[in-house]
Amino acid sequence: MPDTELVVAATLQGAVRWVADAIVGDAKAAMADHGSFHLCLAGGSTPRDLYALLSSPLWRTRVEWDRVHLYMGDERYVGAVDPRSNYRMIRETLVDRILVPPRNVHPIPTGGRDPEADAARYETVLRNSLPAGSGGVPRFDVVLLGLGNDGHTASLFPGSTAIDETQRLVVGVSPPMAPTPRITLTPPVINAAQRVIVLTGGALKAGALRHMLAEHGSPHEIPARVLDPDDGRLCVSVDLAACSELDAEPLHDGIVTIRL
Ligand code: 6PG
Repeated sequence: MPDTELVVAATLQGAVRWVADAIVGDAKAAMADHGSFHLCLAGGSTPRDLYALLSSPLWRTRVEWDRVHLYMGDERYVGAVDPRSNYRMIRETLVDRILVPPRNVHPIPTGGRDPEADAARYETVLRNSLPAGSGGVPRFDVVLLGLGNDGHTASLFPGSTAIDETQRLVVGVSPPMAPTPRITLTPPVINAAQRVIVLTGGALKAGALRHMLAEHGSPHEIPARVLDPDDGRLCVSVDLAACSELDAEPLHDGIVTIRL
């Protein structure tokens, strides 16, 4: 596992606030560096509060949204108005509440009835929209991810062949426990990011966090262990409840803990 900043807040709200601050700071730096900010958003439920905070009246003026491009790390293969749609959640909690140009919002397509074909379409969007990093891999400024109770992240689930993908940037997957197929970014494009931020919280995540940060383990069992930015930073922002098992075994070297 790479050097990791482990940010521990007393509450999930504190962890959310830290991520919001990090995104605001990275946006400013990216805009100064290359004139835009390319942010890949997570699905699930945990980031809802983050998106609501970023789009709140006190915060939404802290980012020049007209220079921001929004993407998604994964999507359930359902319609855009389906209650399970990650894009629906992102649209309701963020996109509809900020002045981001519609052409800068890049949801994962799910209307083609073929996850692999839609995944390939999204890969083309990434290659056409993102600046190229080293090796020609498109480079996000920030990739925001969640952590599943089983250690999955994005839609990289335990046992998935997508964990070992080295060429394609976006693939279709059919996780055995998930009710629908999914489309997910793969490790090469996630790890090409300037910064990868995992936001999670709650006691139910304690086991997954322990295994993610442990000295030894397999990404095939705990897919979040695949997060290893090529030359970017890995940050994990959590609440105390998610840390309840962290002293159960030695953590990997290179963890810098920041207690808020
Ligand atoms: C999804 C997410 C998924 C999520 C984790 C954590 O489509 O559900 O991309 O990877 O981040 O499952 O979900 P919660 O934040 O709801 O715990």
